[in-house]
Amino acid sequence: MAMEIPNPSRKSEPLHGMFTAVPPSYDLINHVVSLGMDRRWRRLAAVVCLEEKPRHVLDLGCGTGDLTISIARLADEHVEITGLDYSQPMLERARKKADRAGVGEKTKFIHGEATNIPFPDGHLDCVGISFAFRNLTYKTPLCLPHLAEVKRVLKPGGRYVIVESSQPENRVIRALFHLYMRTVAQSVGTIISANRGAYRYLAESMSRFYTQAEVREMLLSAGFRSVSYRPLLLGAVGMHVAIS
Ligand SMILES: C[S@@+](CC[C@H](N)C(=O)[O-])C[C@H]1O[C@@H](n2cnc3c(N)ncnc32)[C@H](O)[C@@H]1O
Repeated sequence: MAMEIPNPSRKSEPLHGMFTAVPPSYDLINHVVSLGMDRRWRRLAAVVCLEEKPRHVLDLGCGTGDLTISIARLADEHVEITGLDYSQPMLERARKKADRAGVGEKTKFIHGEATNIPFPDGHLDCVGISFAFRNLTYKTPLCLPHLAEVKRVLKPGGRYVIVESSQPENRVIRALFHLYMRTVAQSVGTIISANRGAYRYLAESMSRFYTQAEVREMLLSAGFRSVSYRPLLLGAVGMHVAIS
């Protein structure tokens, strides 16, 4: 299928505006809304990213760098670790945080677009993504181009490790999760950040996001050879690992 790669300049998109106007309290809100569990999920993703002893790892949509830093803390000095994001303010914070965490030398943060990753074909052993997959796949024309781009930069057998919100299979748990997102999480995010729109989008997109089976199907249709899934927090969050 012929796929059009969108223009990497996304300055007019609402999502780009939202991630550029990142509130100073961004990390705090993530920790509060996830009841402090987001750190553990990223650390788990970092462990999985490093399982096959990669040389080159990319954190796609790295934001303020938490997954990149987790990977760098666990990796030996031979692993080349890069965080990529299209928001300069996020990247500035990521660099400062990596320095403070003592992994500034082991990490590189680059400005870029998920549909136009600045690496040659087959260069990467692993692409990790934490909580940015939804932004790149849910109701957006970036979905197929971004998956094709991740496949392009991965070596055959390379891994795409995705930690993202999901839909609990149990109907009662799913209803409670949606209620939590639309009430507590949305209100906490709005109050701390003073940005109502951003946290309404977060609650809506998390409540309506795909099931783990739909994500799996999406990854297989994009040409990944196999996909495994591990539910976290009763399935409200999950980790897909897709093999290129
Ligand atoms: C919800 S944040 C997650 C950040 C981080 N990975 C984390 O675990 O907290 C999503 C990130 O993806 C970035 N992003 C969204 N769309 C992007 C795109 N098309 N290209 C590059 N980065 C993108 C945003 O700027 C933002 O930093």
